[in-house]
Amino acid sequence: MTAGSAPSNPAVLPPVIAIDGPSASGKGAVASRVAAALGFHYLDSGAIYRAAALAVARAALDPARSGQEALADLVGRMPLSFSAGRVILDAEDVTDSIRSEECGRQASLVAALPLVRLALLARQRAFRQPPGLVADGRDMASVVFPDARLKVFLTASAEVRAERRYKQLMDKGIHANIAQLLQDIRHRDERDSSRATAPLQKAAGAYELDTSSLTIDHAVAWVLERYERQQSS
Ligand code: C5P
Repeated sequence: MTAGSAPSNPAVLPPVIAIDGPSASGKGAVASRVAAALGFHYLDSGAIYRAAALAVARAALDPARSGQEALADLVGRMPLSFSAGRVILDAEDVTDSIRSEECGRQASLVAALPLVRLALLARQRAFRQPPGLVADGRDMASVVFPDARLKVFLTASAEVRAERRYKQLMDKGIHANIAQLLQDIRHRDERDSSRATAPLQKAAGAYELDTSSLTIDHAVAWVLERYERQQSS
């Protein structure tokens, strides 16, 4: 397969389960647990965009002002690796620092640039290795793995997502303001959904699952059951 191109013969490629959805919809927790249950690899594409935002900030570039070519060139070359669940950028463990709300905001600005998205495409597709991959993000089903065996669009109300994020931050001992979190989530949804390239949207053929009143366990079981059904059909 040529880097950046759609796979020519999907039948011989490892299967992909694509799980897309807005910020804090639970897709990361669901996708990583589905991957563990199936013994598949796991791609957290948001972590790549977050690391890209960090690399951009560290190079003193500005997503809103620096030229797209320069930004794309930088993120295309950033020395990023994933090891035992940790995210390593330029030999530094950035797993925790990329999780900040500010990094999420910057990631959403960087991610709106088409050349940046193109520069990160081959890096994401390289995660497709035997025996299979569970990939989470915004455009896994529509752009990165359009031939995914199963496509899921996870949603939850903005209020429920703000509450989840609030609890996550409090558990980590980080002070947070729920009204501010709700506002941030709405802004990020708006930016991710309205951008011209790879907007956040339910892909054709995707199953939608609203997790507002579901536990992670229920959502994981739902995805696994769909996948099994898909395999036997
Ligand atoms: O999923 P997460 O909140 O970590 O993603 C951070 C930001 O990266 C998102 O708000 C979105 O703008 C961007 N992103 C994207 N496409 C993806 C994954 C993340 O545009 N596949």
